[in-house]
Amino acid sequence: MHWLAKVENQYVTLIMITLQVILISGLIPNLPEDIERKCLRDGIKPDIVDVIPDFEIEVMFGDGVLVEFGNEINERECQEEPNVLWPFEKNTTHYTLIMTDPDYPTRSNASQREFQHWLIGNIPGTVEGNGEELTPWYPPHPIKFGGFHRYTFIVFMQPEGEKIKFDEPKLNDSVHGRAHFNTKKFAAKYNLGDPVAINYFRAESFYG
Ligand SMILES: *[C@@H]1O[C@H](CO)[C@@H](O)[C@H](O)[C@H]1NC(C)=O
Ligand SMILES: *[C@@H]1O[C@H](CO)[C@@H](O)[C@H](O)[C@H]1NC(C)=O
Ligand SMILES: *[C@@H]1O[C@H](CO)[C@@H](O)[C@H](O)[C@H]1NC(C)=O
Repeated sequence: MHWLAKVENQYVTLIMITLQVILISGLIPNLPEDIERKCLRDGIKPDIVDVIPDFEIEVMFGDGVLVEFGNEINERECQEEPNVLWPFEKNTTHYTLIMTDPDYPTRSNASQREFQHWLIGNIPGTVEGNGEELTPWYPPHPIKFGGFHRYTFIVFMQPEGEKIKFDEPKLNDSVHGRAHFNTKKFAAKYNLGDPVAINYFRAESFYG
């Protein structure tokens, strides 16, 4: 809570997607210029977004595997739904969270970019804010010896803070229908504007 509170006192608190409350203490936040530099370094802009947000999303797998702007996470440590939090405006708005992979099937030939891993809309700005799951979680599945994938979390604030009646294909927890997703087109379709928070990690596979 410490670092979030520094961002903007009265608007900022913790949000969680899952029902668990997690406390992350002692983390030093990335400044907007750090976030920008890293996202440019790793091609997050322009591959997924055109505008890099100022804030980071805290993403934690399991008991403490943290996502940190392009760090490498072992494929086996990122299979379960993570806890996700970001600075939010209390009670006055709704958010959409996307997890996407621009490197599908591989970064060197991302002919089916992007692969949609997780999509949750209408997340209220409350501490126990559960949103509407539009696409169920699908764990990272880098192709064996296909190099790194950039698994990216992005949050948008919904226009006027209102709920959205989403009109998306209803996907199940298989790979079916997830390829050829496009974050920019999705954001444009629902008039989401620029993203407000972001983070990403890398994973690759030697196991197949
Ligand atoms: C936000 O909503 C919750 C539950 O509806 C309420 O308990 C809380 O007082 C509200 N907070 C603010 C700042 O309005
Ligand atoms: C890229 O992958 C597609 C199939 O996904 C394939 O048809 C194409 O030949 C590949 N291109 C290169 C340069 O490997
Ligand atoms: C998922 O959806 C696809 C397309 O509708 C369908 O072919 C497939 O059988 C479904 N898989 C599961 C596990 O329900």
